[in-house]
Order: sequence, then C-alpha cells, then structure tokens
Amino acid sequence: MEINSHIRTRKVNARRASTRKHLKRLYEGMSGHSVNTGGYDPKFSPIYGEITEDGVEKLIAGFSEIQDISLYPLQQRTFYDLGSGIGKNVFIVASLVPEIKSIGIELVKDRHDLAMKAYNNIKNKSIKSRIEIINGSFFDKNVSDAAWVFISNLCFSDAVNSELVEKLAKELAPNSLIAFSKSMAFPPDSFIMIKQFNVPMTWDVNHQVYLYKKLNNPTPAAMLPIENYTFPAPPKVDLPIMPSPY
Ligand SMILES: C[S@@+](CC[C@H](N)C(=O)[O-])C[C@H]1O[C@@H](n2cnc3c(N)ncnc32)[C@H](O)[C@@H]1O
Repeated sequence: MEINSHIRTRKVNARRASTRKHLKRLYEGMSGHSVNTGGYDPKFSPIYGEITEDGVEKLIAGFSEIQDISLYPLQQRTFYDLGSGIGKNVFIVASLVPEIKSIGIELVKDRHDLAMKAYNNIKNKSIKSRIEIINGSFFDKNVSDAAWVFISNLCFSDAVNSELVEKLAKELAPNSLIAFSKSMAFPPDSFIMIKQFNVPMTWDVNHQVYLYKKLNNPTPAAMLPIENYTFPAPPKVDLPIMPSPY
C-alpha cells in the first residue's frame, strides 16, 4: 500500500517536472498582456492576468479532492477554461491529468493565436489530441460535457457573471465542479459552494478561489448560507501587469 502511494507520488512529481519544462519551451517569449484587445463587445472584459503553474496544480488538487476525474462518466471527463488567454492552463491540465480532455475558449483573437502557436509546437501526441483551443465567446459554446470548469472572472461585470450563472445552471451536469476567482450568487437549487482556498495568480499570490458543485437532488441542507448570495463590489482598478513566471 505504502509502496503504491510512493510510486504514485513519484509519477506525479515526474509529470509536474516534465509539464513545467514543456510549458517553458512552448511559451518562450509569449505574453497575453501586450496584444490588441480593441473591437470586441464592450460588455466583455479583456483584462488579463494568469493563474500561475503552482496555482493550476492547486486547482487540480482542489477538484480531485472533491471528485477525481476517473469517477465521472467517460463523455464528461472534460476541463474548460472559460476565458483561456494564451492557453497555458489548458496545456497544464491536459499534461497533468492524462484522462482528461482540455478545452480553452478565448475571446481575444491575438491571445487565441498565441495559444495556437504553442499548441502547434506540442510534441506529445496524447496531450495534443486531448486539447482544443476555441476563439470566440464562452456564451457561444455548450459546456454540458464538463467535469471541471475554471473561470477567472474577477474583472467580469456583474451582468456577465449573472449570465454565466444562468448558462452554467442550465448546461452543467450534476457533480460537475466550477472554480471562480470571485464568489458567485447561484440559486439554492443549482449549486453548492464546497470550499474556498488560496491560489497564486500573477497579480496576487494568495488569491481566493471559490469552488462550487452542481447539485443533482438538492436538499434544504445543501442550500447555501445566505451570506453567499451577494456579489462582492467589482474591482475599481485594472490588474497590475506582473512579469510572467514562465
Ligand atoms: C483574467 S484572464 C484569465 C486567463 C486564463 N484563464 C488564466 O487564468 O491564466 C480572463 C480572460 O477572459 C477573456 N474573456 C473575457 N470575456 C470573454 C468571453 N465572453 N469569452 C471568452 N473569453 C473571454 C479575456 O479576454 C481574458 O483573456
């Protein structure tokens, strides 16, 4: 038993080291900050910042602790990064979780093009075959095959966040998990907040992430405490541009 867990830990560490090495190669000299963000629907925020690689590893651990990817039906083993920037998270998740399909949807074409440039340089066939990079709005893609979703929505407007809540409540399958970088207000019969934890982002090494689970047959005990039904005030300043750790 102990030997098995030792072997598992060594495998995970080896996969992490290899992922970091490849990420560095794929994204050499690339940044999602200095791109053209003009000409898009003004209701969407093009403000950029990234979850760090440590952050993605923490996020995967946070999802896995609640429901390991292998416990979802095959057709639901999909990770979505909604607003995926230059696609780093999509690559990291596909590389660290061999059972998963990893999909990124990004509005800004210049960021999407950088994500595709990195994607085209992926040499590992298994990882590459499980990645999909889409240019467009996340409102135009049905996400009912998701198991895990990440949305860095701190800078999204209340209107966009409410629309997202409606979409996710309608489309996501029971037991799917969503991590937001801002706490959200869901109707009590749709999602339950499972936990909140610190995840390092490029603008804050201790940023709070809120993890919600889609309910199947909600019971009164599964209802959110009333204090979770308020949107925090939207941030007043743009995120500072921090050097990318990669
Ligand atoms: C804060 S960045 C997060 C990047 C990446 N997910 C990460 O955490 O490293 C948010 C991204 O969402 C994108 N975005 C905003 N509205 C969007 C929409 N409606 N559809 C797709 N992407 C959107 C922005 O262009 C930006 O690249």
